[in-house]
Amino acid sequence: MKLTFPEGFLWGTSTSALQIESAGNHDWRGLKAKDSSILYKNIEHDLRRNEDAEIIASLGNAYRFSPDWSKLQREPKGELETKVIDGYRNFMGTLKDRGIHLMFVLHHFANPDWFVNVGSWTAEESAELFRDYSKKVASAFGDLVDSWNTINEPGLYIDYGYLSGNFPPYKKARLISALKVLNNMSTAHNLAYDEIKEKYDRPVGISNDTMNFHAESLLGKILARTADWTKLDYVPDKFKKVDFVGLSYYGRIPFRPGPITEVNTPGIFDELGRPHDNIWEYYPEGLRDMLIRFEKKYRKPIIITENGCCTDDDDQRIQSIKDHLKAAHDAIKSGVNLKGYFHWSTFDNFELHLGLSYRFGLVGVDSKTLERKPKGSALFYEIIAKNNFLEII
Ligand code: BGC
Repeated sequence: MKLTFPEGFLWGTSTSALQIESAGNHDWRGLKAKDSSILYKNIEHDLRRNEDAEIIASLGNAYRFSPDWSKLQREPKGELETKVIDGYRNFMGTLKDRGIHLMFVLHHFANPDWFVNVGSWTAEESAELFRDYSKKVASAFGDLVDSWNTINEPGLYIDYGYLSGNFPPYKKARLISALKVLNNMSTAHNLAYDEIKEKYDRPVGISNDTMNFHAESLLGKILARTADWTKLDYVPDKFKKVDFVGLSYYGRIPFRPGPITEVNTPGIFDELGRPHDNIWEYYPEGLRDMLIRFEKKYRKPIIITENGCCTDDDDQRIQSIKDHLKAAHDAIKSGVNLKGYFHWSTFDNFELHLGLSYRFGLVGVDSKTLERKPKGSALFYEIIAKNNFLEII
């Protein structure tokens, strides 16, 4: 069977500076991850831009990426660094010459040290500082950008930074701070939206982190419903000033009654005989449901800003791409206005608080030599993107 996607569909891959560039002066630099790797040089994308641009251009007609704020702006309201701008512009220009749609993400989890020093996202002036940054970025890069994603996954950032304490600033159960951050981030998003729109009439959106939260016991029902409401309604509703709604989707979290993941409760999925990757339960059909839910809720174009599989088994990654694209196609058939799909991720990279050994890449990266080597999944994805259809048997 041939699953054909709408004309002009965006096929791309997604990365973040935090996870692929050598670290700037930001709040993740030097982080020791669960697997003991230290976030410092990552995969040195900033030193291998030409080579990486060729790889990126082969993987679809689009690319979602975020430059490093701390390298571009060295102090509150400072002018952007000319040399750093030039480096990013050359890279972006190479991709534009190859006809690649560029989706520029303004904030992907990392904050410059100077921003942390003034109180980071709990400080009232955070939104104004972000507005200033967005304005300068729009004028430095706007001519090369096809679409914008202001903030990557505010819900996940707030949860991991201020409630569960996995991300900098590692705060736990700080509900008041979490609400302040949400308020400041949504204000910052609205201000950035206006700044960009003033200069360029290109689509500006948000990305929401979504998962299927599944109750599997009585107490689990309360926890799953709370997670569902917070992550899929309460937070996304704060970011409604958008031209498109972005969402990432990785799988299912069962609540029995606490959340089960392969990272925090290893072995349980195997005991239960349920498929999983190295982090989450495998549940591709949840993507279709999520897309339908967001379509009904917002009636705006939708883009899958991230979807991927954390595994060293490339056959599992290929199967995951097939199953998730089938789910996305089912959603389109049900009337979802889906405009694009970005696979997470182009390269194996530094998986946030877990480290380099948690691999999501279509392209493998040798941990010592940093040599890039496309996996079978890269070729598989490249063909789907070129054809604009997926053939399933
Ligand atoms: C984040 C990425 C991360 C991926 C896999 C997303 O929520 O935006 O930075 O690597 O999930 O965990």
